[in-house]
Amino acid sequence: MKNLNDLIQRLPKAELHLHIEGSLEPELMFELAQRNHIDLRFKSVEDVRAAYAFSDLQSFLDIYYEGAGVLITERDFYDMTAAYLQRAADDGVRHVEIFYDPQTHTDRNIPFQVAITGIHRALTDAQEAHGISAQLILCFLRHLSAAAAMSTLEAALPYRDWIAGVGLDSSEVGHPPAKFQAVFDRARAEGFKTVAHAGEEGPPAYIWEALDLLHVTRIDHGVRCTEDPKLVARLVAERVPLTVCPLSNVKLCVVNTLADHNLVQMMDAGLLVTVNSDDPAYFGGYLGENFRQCATALQLPPEHIVALCKNSIEASWMTDGRRRALMQEIDAEFNAWKSR
Ligand code: ADE
Ligand code: ZN
Repeated sequence: MKNLNDLIQRLPKAELHLHIEGSLEPELMFELAQRNHIDLRFKSVEDVRAAYAFSDLQSFLDIYYEGAGVLITERDFYDMTAAYLQRAADDGVRHVEIFYDPQTHTDRNIPFQVAITGIHRALTDAQEAHGISAQLILCFLRHLSAAAAMSTLEAALPYRDWIAGVGLDSSEVGHPPAKFQAVFDRARAEGFKTVAHAGEEGPPAYIWEALDLLHVTRIDHGVRCTEDPKLVARLVAERVPLTVCPLSNVKLCVVNTLADHNLVQMMDAGLLVTVNSDDPAYFGGYLGENFRQCATALQLPPEHIVALCKNSIEASWMTDGRRRALMQEIDAEFNAWKSR
Protein backbone atom coordinates (compact mmCIF):
# COMPACT_ATOMS: atom_id res chain seq x y z
CA MET A 1 0.00 0.00 0.00
CA LYS A 2 1.40 3.39 -0.99
CA ASN A 3 1.25 5.82 1.86
CA LEU A 4 2.63 9.34 1.49
CA ASN A 5 3.52 9.58 5.19
CA ASP A 6 5.55 6.41 4.80
CA LEU A 7 7.48 8.02 1.93
CA ILE A 8 8.04 11.19 3.97
CA GLN A 9 9.46 9.17 6.86
CA ARG A 10 11.73 7.01 4.70
CA LEU A 11 13.32 9.67 2.47
CA PRO A 12 16.68 10.98 3.70
CA LYS A 13 16.35 14.64 4.67
CA ALA A 14 18.51 17.50 5.93
CA GLU A 15 17.21 20.05 8.44
CA LEU A 16 18.84 23.44 7.83
CA HIS A 17 16.73 25.83 9.92
CA LEU A 18 16.32 24.74 13.51
CA HIS A 19 16.94 26.88 16.59
CA ILE A 20 18.04 24.43 19.25
CA GLU A 21 16.52 26.61 21.98
CA GLY A 22 13.25 26.29 20.06
CA SER A 23 13.30 22.52 20.50
CA LEU A 24 12.94 22.81 24.29
CA GLU A 25 9.69 20.96 25.02
CA PRO A 26 7.66 22.11 28.06
CA GLU A 27 8.24 18.74 29.77
CA LEU A 28 12.02 19.20 29.62
CA MET A 29 11.62 22.88 30.56
CA PHE A 30 9.94 21.80 33.81
CA GLU A 31 12.52 19.09 34.46
CA LEU A 32 15.38 21.57 34.01
CA ALA A 33 13.63 24.21 36.14
CA GLN A 34 13.37 21.67 38.94
CA ARG A 35 16.97 20.49 38.49
CA ASN A 36 18.24 24.09 38.59
CA HIS A 37 15.86 25.32 41.34
CA ILE A 38 14.21 27.87 39.06
CA ASP A 39 10.61 29.00 39.60
CA LEU A 40 8.57 29.11 36.39
CA ARG A 41 5.58 31.43 36.19
CA PHE A 42 3.62 28.50 34.72
CA LYS A 43 1.97 25.89 36.96
CA SER A 44 1.99 23.00 34.49
CA VAL A 45 3.04 21.78 31.06
CA GLU A 46 -0.53 22.47 29.89
CA ASP A 47 -0.23 26.07 31.15
CA VAL A 48 2.95 26.50 29.12
CA ARG A 49 1.37 25.10 25.95
CA ALA A 50 -1.69 27.33 26.45
CA ALA A 51 0.62 30.36 26.41
CA TYR A 52 1.90 29.44 22.94
CA ALA A 53 -0.66 31.52 21.05
CA PHE A 54 1.34 34.02 19.05
CA SER A 55 0.27 37.04 17.03
CA ASP A 56 3.63 37.80 15.40
CA LEU A 57 7.37 37.11 15.65
CA GLN A 58 7.93 39.35 18.69
CA SER A 59 5.12 37.77 20.73
CA PHE A 60 6.87 34.42 20.19
CA LEU A 61 10.39 35.69 20.88
CA ASP A 62 9.35 37.11 24.26
CA ILE A 63 8.24 33.70 25.55
CA TYR A 64 11.04 31.83 23.74
CA TYR A 65 13.76 33.84 25.50
CA GLU A 66 11.94 33.33 28.81
CA GLY A 67 11.86 29.55 28.25
CA ALA A 68 15.60 29.46 27.58
CA GLY A 69 16.14 30.76 31.13
CA VAL A 70 16.05 27.19 32.52
CA LEU A 71 19.23 26.27 30.58
CA ILE A 72 22.10 26.61 33.05
CA THR A 73 24.60 23.75 32.85
CA GLU A 74 26.44 22.02 30.03
CA ARG A 75 24.30 18.95 30.74
CA ASP A 76 21.11 21.01 30.17
CA PHE A 77 22.31 22.00 26.69
CA TYR A 78 23.37 18.41 26.01
CA ASP A 79 19.98 16.99 27.06
CA MET A 80 18.02 19.51 24.97
CA THR A 81 20.15 18.84 21.88
CA ALA A 82 20.08 15.06 22.32
CA ALA A 83 16.27 15.14 22.64
CA TYR A 84 15.99 17.07 19.36
CA LEU A 85 18.35 14.68 17.56
CA GLN A 86 16.30 11.67 18.71
CA ARG A 87 13.16 13.23 17.23
CA ALA A 88 15.01 14.15 14.04
CA ALA A 89 16.25 10.57 13.69
CA ASP A 90 12.68 9.30 14.14
CA ASP A 91 11.65 11.55 11.21
CA GLY A 92 14.33 10.18 8.87
CA VAL A 93 16.58 13.24 9.17
CA ARG A 94 20.15 12.33 8.19
CA HIS A 95 21.93 15.67 8.41
CA VAL A 96 21.34 18.80 10.51
CA GLU A 97 22.73 22.32 10.53
CA ILE A 98 21.36 23.82 13.70
CA PHE A 99 21.33 27.36 15.09
CA TYR A 100 22.08 28.45 18.60
CA ASP A 101 21.95 31.94 20.15
CA PRO A 102 24.99 32.39 22.43
CA GLN A 103 23.90 35.88 23.53
CA THR A 104 20.68 34.49 25.03
CA HIS A 105 22.92 32.67 27.49
CA THR A 106 25.97 34.90 27.94
CA ASP A 107 23.62 37.81 28.73
CA ARG A 108 22.38 35.67 31.68
CA ASN A 109 25.97 35.17 32.83
CA ILE A 110 26.21 31.62 31.48
CA PRO A 111 29.81 31.43 30.21
CA PHE A 112 30.19 31.11 26.42
CA GLN A 113 31.85 27.73 26.78
CA VAL A 114 28.91 26.09 28.63
CA ALA A 115 26.27 26.15 25.88
CA ILE A 116 28.58 25.40 22.99
CA THR A 117 30.25 22.46 24.76
CA GLY A 118 26.95 20.79 25.67
CA ILE A 119 25.51 21.28 22.17
CA HIS A 120 28.72 20.16 20.46
CA ARG A 121 28.95 16.98 22.54
CA ALA A 122 25.38 16.00 21.64
CA LEU A 123 26.01 16.69 17.94
CA THR A 124 29.12 14.52 18.02
CA ASP A 125 27.28 11.67 19.80
CA ALA A 126 24.45 11.82 17.21
CA GLN A 127 26.79 10.54 14.52
CA GLU A 128 27.29 7.30 16.46
CA ALA A 129 23.78 7.04 17.95
CA HIS A 130 21.73 7.90 14.86
CA GLY A 131 24.04 8.18 11.84
CA ILE A 132 23.19 11.90 11.69
CA SER A 133 25.91 14.26 10.47
CA ALA A 134 25.71 17.65 12.15
CA GLN A 135 27.05 21.18 11.93
CA LEU A 136 26.53 24.20 14.17
CA ILE A 137 25.61 27.77 13.16
CA LEU A 138 26.10 30.58 15.68
CA CYS A 139 23.39 33.23 15.35
CA PHE A 140 23.71 36.88 16.36
CA LEU A 141 20.64 38.45 17.95
CA ARG A 142 19.78 41.30 15.62
CA HIS A 143 17.82 43.29 18.28
CA LEU A 144 21.14 43.73 20.10
CA SER A 145 23.97 45.97 18.88
CA ALA A 146 26.49 45.28 16.12
CA ALA A 147 29.23 45.77 18.75
CA ALA A 148 27.70 43.00 20.89
CA ALA A 149 27.63 40.73 17.82
CA MET A 150 31.30 41.47 17.16
CA SER A 151 32.22 40.62 20.77
CA THR A 152 30.27 37.37 20.42
CA LEU A 153 32.17 36.52 17.24
CA GLU A 154 35.45 37.14 19.05
CA ALA A 155 34.35 34.90 21.95
CA ALA A 156 33.59 32.17 19.40
CA LEU A 157 37.02 32.18 17.74
CA PRO A 158 38.60 29.64 20.16
CA TYR A 159 35.75 27.26 19.17
CA ARG A 160 36.01 27.83 15.42
CA ASP A 161 36.45 24.10 14.72
CA TRP A 162 33.00 23.46 16.22
CA ILE A 163 31.21 26.20 14.24
CA ALA A 164 30.48 25.92 10.50
CA GLY A 165 28.84 29.27 10.01
CA VAL A 166 27.20 32.34 11.49
CA GLY A 167 23.62 33.56 11.09
CA LEU A 168 21.31 36.39 12.07
CA ASP A 169 18.02 35.93 13.92
CA SER A 170 15.56 37.54 16.40
CA SER A 171 13.38 40.63 15.75
CA GLU A 172 13.69 41.33 12.04
CA VAL A 173 11.83 44.55 11.27
CA GLY A 174 13.90 47.61 12.22
CA HIS A 175 17.12 45.59 12.30
CA PRO A 176 18.18 45.25 8.64
CA PRO A 177 21.15 43.13 7.56
CA ALA A 178 23.17 46.31 6.87
CA LYS A 179 23.51 46.79 10.66
CA PHE A 180 25.76 43.70 10.75
CA GLN A 181 27.85 44.20 7.61
CA ALA A 182 31.17 44.61 9.47
CA VAL A 183 30.51 41.58 11.69
CA PHE A 184 29.74 39.41 8.68
CA ASP A 185 32.83 40.73 6.83
CA ARG A 186 34.93 39.63 9.78
CA ALA A 187 33.15 36.28 10.08
CA ARG A 188 33.80 35.47 6.41
CA ALA A 189 37.42 36.56 6.77
CA GLU A 190 37.72 34.13 9.71
CA GLY A 191 36.46 31.32 7.45
CA PHE A 192 32.82 31.02 8.54
CA LYS A 193 29.98 30.44 6.11
CA THR A 194 27.11 32.91 6.47
CA VAL A 195 23.32 32.77 6.47
CA ALA A 196 20.67 35.23 7.64
CA HIS A 197 16.98 35.33 8.46
CA ALA A 198 15.45 37.69 5.91
CA GLY A 199 12.02 38.14 4.39
CA GLU A 200 10.17 36.41 7.24
CA GLU A 201 8.38 39.54 8.48
CA GLY A 202 10.83 41.96 6.88
CA PRO A 203 10.53 43.24 3.28
CA PRO A 204 12.23 41.85 0.16
CA ALA A 205 14.79 44.68 0.53
CA TYR A 206 16.22 42.81 3.54
CA ILE A 207 16.82 39.75 1.31
CA TRP A 208 18.70 41.94 -1.21
CA GLU A 209 20.81 43.32 1.65
CA ALA A 210 21.56 39.86 3.04
CA LEU A 211 22.82 38.83 -0.41
CA ASP A 212 24.69 42.02 -1.34
CA LEU A 213 26.04 43.18 2.03
CA LEU A 214 26.34 39.99 4.10
CA HIS A 215 27.14 37.69 1.12
CA VAL A 216 25.08 34.89 2.64
CA THR A 217 25.03 31.44 1.06
CA ARG A 218 21.41 30.78 2.13
CA ILE A 219 18.40 32.85 3.13
CA ASP A 220 16.46 31.69 6.20
CA HIS A 221 12.70 31.95 5.55
CA GLY A 222 12.73 34.33 2.55
CA VAL A 223 9.02 33.73 1.91
CA ARG A 224 8.38 37.41 1.12
CA CYS A 225 10.69 37.15 -1.93
CA THR A 226 7.66 36.41 -4.12
CA GLU A 227 6.60 40.07 -3.72
CA ASP A 228 9.61 41.04 -5.90
CA PRO A 229 9.93 39.28 -9.31
CA LYS A 230 13.47 40.65 -9.88
CA LEU A 231 14.56 39.16 -6.56
CA VAL A 232 12.99 35.80 -7.43
CA ALA A 233 14.86 35.84 -10.76
CA ARG A 234 18.14 36.47 -8.96
CA LEU A 235 17.57 33.79 -6.32
CA VAL A 236 16.71 31.30 -9.08
CA ALA A 237 19.70 32.28 -11.27
CA GLU A 238 22.17 32.04 -8.36
CA ARG A 239 20.45 28.97 -6.90
CA VAL A 240 20.33 30.53 -3.46
CA PRO A 241 18.60 28.14 -1.05
CA LEU A 242 15.63 29.32 1.03
CA THR A 243 15.10 27.52 4.35
CA VAL A 244 11.32 27.77 4.60
CA CYS A 245 9.46 26.87 7.82
CA PRO A 246 5.77 26.34 7.00
CA LEU A 247 4.29 25.61 10.45
CA SER A 248 6.29 28.51 11.90
CA ASN A 249 4.83 30.85 9.27
CA VAL A 250 1.30 29.84 10.27
CA LYS A 251 1.94 30.11 14.05
CA LEU A 252 3.55 33.55 13.68
CA CYS A 253 0.77 34.76 11.35
CA VAL A 254 3.10 35.30 8.38
CA VAL A 255 0.38 33.40 6.47
CA ASN A 256 -3.23 32.83 7.53
CA THR A 257 -3.37 29.08 6.98
CA LEU A 258 -1.06 26.42 5.60
CA ALA A 259 -3.28 26.18 2.50
CA ASP A 260 -2.36 29.84 1.79
CA HIS A 261 1.40 29.19 1.98
CA ASN A 262 3.46 30.08 -1.11
CA LEU A 263 5.66 26.96 -0.86
CA VAL A 264 4.40 25.49 -4.14
CA GLN A 265 4.47 28.89 -5.86
CA MET A 266 8.15 29.18 -4.88
CA MET A 267 8.96 25.66 -6.08
CA ASP A 268 7.15 26.27 -9.38
CA ALA A 269 9.17 29.50 -9.84
CA GLY A 270 12.32 27.36 -9.76
CA LEU A 271 13.53 28.43 -6.31
CA LEU A 272 15.70 26.08 -4.27
CA VAL A 273 13.20 25.69 -1.43
CA THR A 274 13.68 23.48 1.64
CA VAL A 275 11.24 22.61 4.43
CA ASN A 276 12.32 23.04 8.06
CA SER A 277 10.83 23.24 11.55
CA ASP A 278 12.36 26.48 13.02
CA ASP A 279 11.20 26.14 16.67
CA PRO A 280 9.30 22.84 16.73
CA ALA A 281 8.50 22.80 20.48
CA TYR A 282 6.64 26.10 20.01
CA PHE A 283 5.12 25.68 16.55
CA GLY A 284 3.46 22.27 16.77
CA GLY A 285 5.71 19.94 14.86
CA TYR A 286 9.14 18.66 13.93
CA LEU A 287 10.35 18.17 10.38
CA GLY A 288 8.17 15.13 9.60
CA GLU A 289 5.07 16.97 10.80
CA ASN A 290 5.93 20.00 8.62
CA PHE A 291 6.12 17.69 5.59
CA ARG A 292 2.94 15.78 6.47
CA GLN A 293 0.86 18.89 7.09
CA CYS A 294 2.17 20.57 3.90
CA ALA A 295 1.44 17.42 1.89
CA THR A 296 -2.17 17.51 3.08
CA ALA A 297 -2.88 21.25 3.04
CA LEU A 298 -1.09 21.93 -0.27
CA GLN A 299 -1.91 18.57 -1.87
CA LEU A 300 1.74 17.92 -2.63
CA PRO A 301 2.33 15.09 -5.10
CA PRO A 302 5.07 12.58 -4.14
CA GLU A 303 7.42 14.14 -6.73
CA HIS A 304 7.28 17.44 -4.81
CA ILE A 305 8.13 15.64 -1.55
CA VAL A 306 11.13 14.04 -3.26
CA ALA A 307 12.20 17.39 -4.75
CA LEU A 308 12.04 19.09 -1.33
CA CYS A 309 14.19 16.35 0.24
CA LYS A 310 16.71 16.57 -2.60
CA ASN A 311 16.77 20.36 -2.25
CA SER A 312 17.66 19.99 1.44
CA ILE A 313 20.59 17.75 0.57
CA GLU A 314 21.75 20.11 -2.20
CA ALA A 315 21.44 23.20 0.03
CA SER A 316 23.38 21.66 2.91
CA TRP A 317 27.08 21.98 3.68
CA MET A 318 27.70 18.23 3.93
CA THR A 319 30.63 16.71 2.05
CA ASP A 320 30.16 16.01 -1.67
CA GLY A 321 30.58 12.28 -1.04
CA ARG A 322 27.77 12.21 1.52
CA ARG A 323 25.64 14.41 -0.73
CA ARG A 324 25.98 11.94 -3.63
CA ALA A 325 25.24 8.95 -1.37
CA LEU A 326 22.10 10.54 0.13
CA MET A 327 20.82 11.63 -3.32
CA GLN A 328 21.16 8.01 -4.49
CA GLU A 329 19.37 6.80 -1.37
CA ILE A 330 16.49 9.18 -2.10
CA ASP A 331 16.13 7.76 -5.64
CA ALA A 332 16.27 4.19 -4.32
CA GLU A 333 13.69 4.86 -1.58
CA PHE A 334 11.34 6.56 -4.04
CA ASN A 335 11.61 3.69 -6.54
CA ALA A 336 11.01 1.13 -3.81
CA TRP A 337 7.98 3.11 -2.57
CA LYS A 338 6.50 3.37 -6.09
CA SER A 339 6.79 -0.35 -6.66
CA ARG A 340 4.93 -1.23 -3.45
N1 ADE B 1 14.65 32.91 16.66
C1 ADE B 1 14.02 31.74 16.83
N2 ADE B 1 13.08 31.58 15.89
C2 ADE B 1 13.12 32.68 15.09
C3 ADE B 1 12.41 33.08 13.95
N3 ADE B 1 11.43 32.36 13.41
N4 ADE B 1 12.72 34.29 13.40
C4 ADE B 1 13.68 35.04 13.94
N5 ADE B 1 14.37 34.69 15.01
C5 ADE B 1 14.11 33.51 15.59
ZN1 ZN C 1 14.38 30.80 12.44
